[in-house]
Amino acid sequence: MKPSMRSRQEPRRVSNGVIIAAMLLSLCVLSIVKARYCSTPFAKPDDQLQEQMNSSIRMETDEPASKAAGEQEEEEEESPAAAAGAVPEVSTTTPTVVARGGKGRPTCFMTSKRSERCEARGDIRVEGNASTIYIGGIDKEWKTKPYARYHDPVAMAYVREFTLKPADEFAPACTKNHSVPAFVFSNGGFSGNLYHDYTDVLVPLFLSTRQFKGEVQFLLSGLKPWWVNKFTLFFRQLTKYDILDIDNDRDVHCFPRIVVGATFHKDMGVDPARSPGHVSVVDFKRALRRAFGLERAAASRGGATGNGKPRLLIISRKNSRRFLNEREMAQAAAAMGFDVRIAEPDQHTDMSTFARLVNSADVMIGVHGAGLTNMVFLPRGAVLIQVVPFGGLEWLTTVTFKNPAKDMEVTYMDYNIQLEESSLLDQYPRNHQVLTDPYAVHKQGGWDALKTAYLDKQNIRMDMDRFKKTLQEALDRLPPA
Ligand SMILES: *[C@@H]1O[C@H](CO)[C@@H](O)[C@H](O)[C@H]1NC(C)=O
Ligand SMILES: *[C@@H]1O[C@H](CO)[C@@H](O)[C@H](O)[C@H]1NC(C)=O
Ligand SMILES: *[C@@H]1O[C@H](CO)[C@@H](O)[C@H](O)[C@H]1NC(C)=O
Repeated sequence: MKPSMRSRQEPRRVSNGVIIAAMLLSLCVLSIVKARYCSTPFAKPDDQLQEQMNSSIRMETDEPASKAAGEQEEEEEESPAAAAGAVPEVSTTTPTVVARGGKGRPTCFMTSKRSERCEARGDIRVEGNASTIYIGGIDKEWKTKPYARYHDPVAMAYVREFTLKPADEFAPACTKNHSVPAFVFSNGGFSGNLYHDYTDVLVPLFLSTRQFKGEVQFLLSGLKPWWVNKFTLFFRQLTKYDILDIDNDRDVHCFPRIVVGATFHKDMGVDPARSPGHVSVVDFKRALRRAFGLERAAASRGGATGNGKPRLLIISRKNSRRFLNEREMAQAAAAMGFDVRIAEPDQHTDMSTFARLVNSADVMIGVHGAGLTNMVFLPRGAVLIQVVPFGGLEWLTTVTFKNPAKDMEVTYMDYNIQLEESSLLDQYPRNHQVLTDPYAVHKQGGWDALKTAYLDKQNIRMDMDRFKKTLQEALDRLPPA
C-alpha cells in the first residue's frame, strides 16, 4: 500500500433508494450488533442493498484515476455440478471439454458473486498476446476476466478479458508444450493495495491451486514486476515454475489442462468445507509463514521468548487516519510492560522484513486501513485491535477485518473512536451533521461523502485512559506465557 491515500472510485449509478436502504441496514447492524439478526426482517430487499454495500467495500486503491465503470460481465448461472467441485470428465480418445448446460459452452461458472472460473482439459492453446485461449471440443466462444471482484465494475474495468475459442483449423500451432496444467489470473483490478492483494488475489489463488502441489504453470495477466517480486516467495509455495507474463508473450503455449480464474469463498477467507483438500485460511497462513521464513507459530504474554515482554506493534499512517498522539501511546504501552514498535508499511516495504516484524508482535493496533492486512503474519493467539474511525463505519470494518480475523486464529478487538478523540471536532461545529448524524451523510452523499468526511479527513487522538484499558484487555486475552 502506498502511504498516500488515493481516491477510490465509486459506482456511479447508485439509486437513492438503495442508499437509504443501505443506511437502514447499517443502523440495524449497529444497533443489533450482529448483521445476521437483520436479515430476517428485511429478507428480500436485503440482498440487493447488501450487494450494493458489498461492492463499495474497498480499501483506498493505487489504481489509476477516473475511468467510467466497466461493462458489466454477463452473469452465468452456476452449474450445480461445477459448483459442487466436479471437474470435466476426461476422455482418452476425443477432445475432452465437456459442455455444460447443453449449450456447448466451456466449463465456466460463477464460484460466487465475486469470481468466474473456467476449466478445461485436452487440446488447450494459449495465445497470450491476443488474450485468446483455444480449447478443443467446444463450439462456442466465451469471455471471462480472471479476477475475484466481479461485483465491483470499477475494479473489473482494470482487468483484461480473455476469450475462450474453439480450437478449430484456424487455431495457431503450439510453439511451447507444457506437461502441467495452467492457471490464469490477473493482478489488475485493485491489486497493489495490500488488502486487495490478499482478498482479491492471493487467498483465492491459494484456495484454487494448492491442490496442484507445485505442478502448475501460472499465467499472470497485468503483470507488474514489483508486485510479483513482492510475493515471489509465496508463489514458490504454490508453483515450481516461473510466472509467465501472459499479456506480453509471443509464444503459443499448450497445456493438457487449464483453469482460468480463481474460486472465491469470502473476504480474506476460505470455507474448508468447500475447498479442495479442505484447506483453510490457517493453511494459508502456514504457507505464508513458510514462504517468508516466519518462526513464531503462537503469541504469548511473555513475548517471543516466552519470558520477556509482549510486543505491541502500532501500525502507523502518515496521510489520513493518523494517530495524532502516537508517541504518547507508545510511552503508555511501554509503561504497561510492552515492548513497543511503530511501523508503517508502504508499497516499497520489503515483505520479508515486514512480515517478520508483524510475526514478532503479540498485539497489533492500527486505524482501519490496508495496513491491518498484515494480520496474516500474526502468530496464533495474537490480538488485533482495529481502531474504527468516527462515522458509522462498522459495516465496513466488520467485513474487512473483524470477520476474517476469527478464521486466522487472531483475537479481534474493536476500538471505536468517540467523537472526543476525533479531529473532526476541530473541523466542524458541534451541531454539524457530520458529527451529529453520520448516517444522514452516508444517505445524502453516498460513498464519496462518507469517504471524504470520515476516511480522508479524520485523524485520531487516542484517549489515554481508554487506550490503556484496551491494552490491558488485550494483554489479558493473550495466551499465558
Ligand atoms: C455481502 O458480503 C457478506 C460478507 O462478505 C456476505 O455474507 C453476503 O452474502 C454478501 N451479500 C451479497 C448480496 O453479495
Ligand atoms: C501475437 O503474436 C503473433 C506472433 O508474433 C502475431 O502474429 C499476432 O498478430 C499477435 N497478435 C496480437 C493481437 O498482437
Ligand atoms: C507440441 O505438441 C504437439 C502435439 O503433440 C506437437 O505436434 C508439436 O510439434 C509440439 N510442439 C513443440 C514446439 O514441441
